[in-house]
Amino acid sequence: MLKIDGLTAGYGQAVILRDVALSAEAGEITVLMGRNGAGKTTLMKCIMGLVKAQAGQILLGDTDLALLPPHRVPGNGVGYVPQGRRLFSELTVAQNIEIGLGAGPRDAATRRETRDEMLELFPRLAERMQQRAGTLSGGEQQMLATARALCLKPKLLLLDEPTEGLQPSMIEAIRQVMVQMRDRGLAVLLVEQRIDAVLGFADRISVIEMGRNAEDFGRDEIAPGEARLRAHLGV
Ligand SMILES: Nc1ncnc2c1ncn2[C@@H]1O[C@H](COP(=O)(O)OP(=O)(O)OP(=O)(O)O)[C@@H](O)[C@H]1O
Ligand SMILES: [Mg+2]
Repeated sequence: MLKIDGLTAGYGQAVILRDVALSAEAGEITVLMGRNGAGKTTLMKCIMGLVKAQAGQILLGDTDLALLPPHRVPGNGVGYVPQGRRLFSELTVAQNIEIGLGAGPRDAATRRETRDEMLELFPRLAERMQQRAGTLSGGEQQMLATARALCLKPKLLLLDEPTEGLQPSMIEAIRQVMVQMRDRGLAVLLVEQRIDAVLGFADRISVIEMGRNAEDFGRDEIAPGEARLRAHLGV
């Protein structure tokens, strides 16, 4: 599904990612791990075209996302839930979902169906449609950001530390949605820093260190590799 190879990128003169490779398969949860500042968010932004690749490929199927302008990326089937949620905080829940739908299917019946599906997935949002997004709790905001990304029916869902700072019940709700999306055949690429949160949950783990690939763990390598994983992350 997603196959990144030889990706080099950064900001101005500062090169942050060097020759990075990463894959994410349909029907799997791939977790990208690394210490603070390793370049995880930068990698997500490269996929979205928000940071330009200086070299390398970001293949989604046959399409090289690295060659597309940012506004063309979501339409190719990539949903993005950025770190820190980035909602339109003055707008209501309903309006935020409407914006998500704006990027997705066009006809009214499909839009309604998609919206209803999101409210089924996140019943807490259904009760708060007229509330301003900025006044939602952290967990509810995360749900709204995820619902917005899912409105366009992505094949690839990117989530950048979606459970940061949330209480356990909210974390569980968001995990369940990730599992559901995986089971529906989406490729889920999750940035997560807490090892306990990914053990028994991730299908594969890729670790980056200072913008370079450090080590990859397949499904059967995660549990036996836990000590090495902890060493990479310094925890
Ligand atoms: N807009 C920017 N301009 C210049 N440097 C940046 C910019 N955004 C990020 N950086 C730098 O790039 C490096 C990687 O940042 P990035 O946000 O990708 O790390 P991260 O792995 O997501 O970290 P965290 O775990 O803290 O979210 C850091 O050194 C950061 O200071
Ligand atoms: Mg980050």
